[in-house]
Amino acid sequence: MTDSTIDAKPHPTLADWYGEDAARQGYINRLFDKGSTHYDWVNAVMSFGSGYRYRDEVLHRTKLQPGMRVLDVACGTGPVAVAAKRIVGPSGRVVGVDPSRGMLNVARQKVDANFVEALGEALAVRSESFDLVTMGYALRHVSDLLAAFGEYRRVLKPGGRVVIMEIALPESRLRRRFLGWYMGRAVPLITRWGTGSRDAEQMMRYYWDTTEQCVPPATILAALRDAGFREVRRDVQWSMLCEYHGVR
Ligand SMILES: C[S@@+](CC[C@H](N)C(=O)[O-])C[C@H]1O[C@@H](n2cnc3c(N)ncnc32)[C@H](O)[C@@H]1O
Repeated sequence: MTDSTIDAKPHPTLADWYGEDAARQGYINRLFDKGSTHYDWVNAVMSFGSGYRYRDEVLHRTKLQPGMRVLDVACGTGPVAVAAKRIVGPSGRVVGVDPSRGMLNVARQKVDANFVEALGEALAVRSESFDLVTMGYALRHVSDLLAAFGEYRRVLKPGGRVVIMEIALPESRLRRRFLGWYMGRAVPLITRWGTGSRDAEQMMRYYWDTTEQCVPPATILAALRDAGFREVRRDVQWSMLCEYHGVR
């Protein structure tokens, strides 16, 4: 059943970036294709080198075990897939999904996994075939939260889990202002200086704009419940690193 009160778009139309909604996904794909070779460097710098360790800790909180099957939606260059493969081991399986060929090409060089070029809201994989669906820092890029969460539920085995990692705006005004300065100004400039790439700088500016404009956590939790997940909860670390959990 669909709750008509949920705004299924993760953020309003950002006309300054891509014009109208019909152009959004093509614009994002080009943005990530062009920034793909710089993403890992930027990710390491902006998280002070903690990005891989944090993703690993999140996966352990989902009770992921050796031998399990993981679908990493919006896998990008593969930081979540790498952590997942380390845990599930040779008897387990990791599949990464992403619409950006550039990002997938980087991921393929790093991790023994299968990769599929697809959108989170239209997964080209079999129903009831995964123990865990993950999505790291990409919820803002799907066209429709309910469509994406419906797909995650479809591909999970009964009892399977979903975990979505996102950055949330801190409640404290001071922390929010600091985060806005850091992610909105400092990170794009550091990216430009460190990579020499205007495309990578744009990728990080878009990253922050979509984070700032994203629907509030309550909407994301409601959409997960509406898609049929139970035991839905949000955990927050350092007032801004957010994990959304649910069980099919
Ligand atoms: C910021 S990167 C996140 C990469 C990685 N998951 C991580 O943890 O760092 C966002 C990714 O979302 C992907 N993406 C964009 N639109 C998407 C969509 N509609 N469905 C799934 N992934 C999408 C992009 O191609 C990009 O690789």
